[in-house]
Amino acid sequence: MKILAGTSNLKLCKDIARNLKLKLVNTNITRFPDNEIYVEINENIRGNSIFVVQSTSNPVNDNLMELLICIDALRRSSAKNITAVIPYFGYARQDRKVVPRTAISAKLVSNLITDAGANRILSVDLHAGQIQGFFDIPVDNLFATPIFARHIKKNIKTNNLICIAPDVGGVERARALSRRINVGIAIIDKRRPTPGKSEVMNIVGNVKHKICVIVDDIIDSGGTIVNAAKALKDKGAKEIYVYITHAVLSGSAVDKIKESQIKKLIITDTIDNSKKIKISKKIEVISFAPMISEAIKRISNSTSVSSLFK
Ligand code: R5P
Repeated sequence: MKILAGTSNLKLCKDIARNLKLKLVNTNITRFPDNEIYVEINENIRGNSIFVVQSTSNPVNDNLMELLICIDALRRSSAKNITAVIPYFGYARQDRKVVPRTAISAKLVSNLITDAGANRILSVDLHAGQIQGFFDIPVDNLFATPIFARHIKKNIKTNNLICIAPDVGGVERARALSRRINVGIAIIDKRRPTPGKSEVMNIVGNVKHKICVIVDDIIDSGGTIVNAAKALKDKGAKEIYVYITHAVLSGSAVDKIKESQIKKLIITDTIDNSKKIKISKKIEVISFAPMISEAIKRISNSTSVSSLFK
């Protein structure tokens, strides 16, 4: 078993390799003058099981292409099997045709990764469960819920707490978290008048005097969460904490969070944000490295991954 690190999140790759007491595969990932990606593997990997770790985060297209080229290099170097470990799976939000004449990019990207030569996928909090079915190879999808539940129990008093789904799509996630910490849920009725803009229409549930924990898979522009926090405060919420798996944090998202009514934003390290957030005291990062490492160990030993969540 060997770990090959893409360049999108080196810190996470190194943490995973350290947990598994493995060295990263000696690889050169560089660019041609016109920016084409060049991957060269500098050690024998014939007959090895390789886990190639790469988040397809911003710059999404470059990181995706780098993943595909790494997989192709591994296949042509006679790796026995290749697991694409994609902590953040980009393009996941285009998982169906919401309006006519649009692409289903999540399916296209799944095809590309399979065609490149991946034999298995390991990912984290896929935006929609059905993306697993876009692949015809095994997919293991890890959940942040147990990590978030542990953090909440340790850091926030749970006797006056309520879990918030920031939109209808997030109800399953909020319910899973609420079950683990034994509290109720409220649901925000969010609309998107135009792509990238969000509006809160209604809140289903009573949040007055409550400590609200909003849970979501992605924070991108920050609009969904900042608007949700404002709406909750307007309805009398006491404090607002936000737990997000994939911190895309585009544009001025970090500033929006700083100026918002959110007490604390807790994110994971599926995307490397070390440069963006080092100035913000409101944002805390918890690591997914231990869980990804454990899942890699279990895949490699052919033992259960799902039992990690029982
Ligand atoms: C949407 O379905 C996702 O779960 C997130 O709520 C969304 O991607 C967040 O985007 P933004 O931060 O730009 O509002």
